[in-house]
Amino acid sequence: PLPVILDGDPGLDDAIAWLLALASPEEVRVLGLTAVHGNVGLDRTTRNALVTLALAGEAGAGVPVYAGANRPLIRPAMTAAAVHGESGLPASGLPEPGRGAESEHAVDFISRAVRGQPGEVTLVATGPLTNVALAFRLAPDLPELLREVVWMGGSTGQGNRTPAAEFNALADPHAARIVLESGVRVRMFGLNVTMQAVATPERVERLRTLGNRAGRVSAELLTFYAGIYRERYGMTGGALHDPLAVAAVIRPGLCEMRPMNVQVETQEGLNFGRTVCDLYGVTGQAANAEVAVTVDDEAFFGLLLERLARLP
Ligand code: BDR
Ligand code: CA
Repeated sequence: PLPVILDGDPGLDDAIAWLLALASPEEVRVLGLTAVHGNVGLDRTTRNALVTLALAGEAGAGVPVYAGANRPLIRPAMTAAAVHGESGLPASGLPEPGRGAESEHAVDFISRAVRGQPGEVTLVATGPLTNVALAFRLAPDLPELLREVVWMGGSTGQGNRTPAAEFNALADPHAARIVLESGVRVRMFGLNVTMQAVATPERVERLRTLGNRAGRVSAELLTFYAGIYRERYGMTGGALHDPLAVAAVIRPGLCEMRPMNVQVETQEGLNFGRTVCDLYGVTGQAANAEVAVTVDDEAFFGLLLERLARLP
């Protein structure tokens, strides 16, 4: 199995993504969970990481949790509490965390873990890239030592937090820029594909009737989420952004990828936080990312369902 670090801001779709990874030991070995500010504040994303481990039962045993950056590098902090609830995990009957977070900082852990297995570790980032950018600044050889960064963020087209910018990119554009300019191998899963991975009412029902707590809690979270998606985007069901990025690590064929140059707008203004993706290669600039351009959403959801069924 691939050694992975899961970095994110749970957040309900981060939590579901992490359950998917924890339930897939044949493909991935989770070295640790690193929490970052984002959907809700760092205290909550750290606590939610611990709750997610408790939800995973045996599959989460022994996986350490580290708290990371509590704010973006430069811009003021922003959250998405309207989408994820004030707690970040709007569901009832959640287990209490069985333990606390480690005392080591997430950024130190990332650096240590990557160094421990040069060329092997995949960093799956499903939140603002603040921890990853800080790790690259702390240890400039890290981009070379990582196998790759798999990021849910950005978009080849429309944004969701502004017309131009996706939430994870906008929540720390400077960090995203550092990572994209670092030379690390990046696979990017943006809104152009994740908005097609929808938790329709029928799919939520299949989760609810799996007969386990993980299915029940996921269904409850996605039902809360669906309300916001209806109101905001006129969609029937919320988008499973973060789970798609994890799924693509487990099953690389789920998305068709295209190499291209991606730059992040860090000037404040209409396009602040936009990932400018050179889909047609018109700039002649070298590709710095592989960007998902299609998704097999039936296969993706089938995988999610099959893996969550393994959990308590
Ligand atoms: C991303 O923003 C967050 O609200 C979600 O968790 C996901 O990572 C989608 O834009
Ligand atoms: Ca997220």
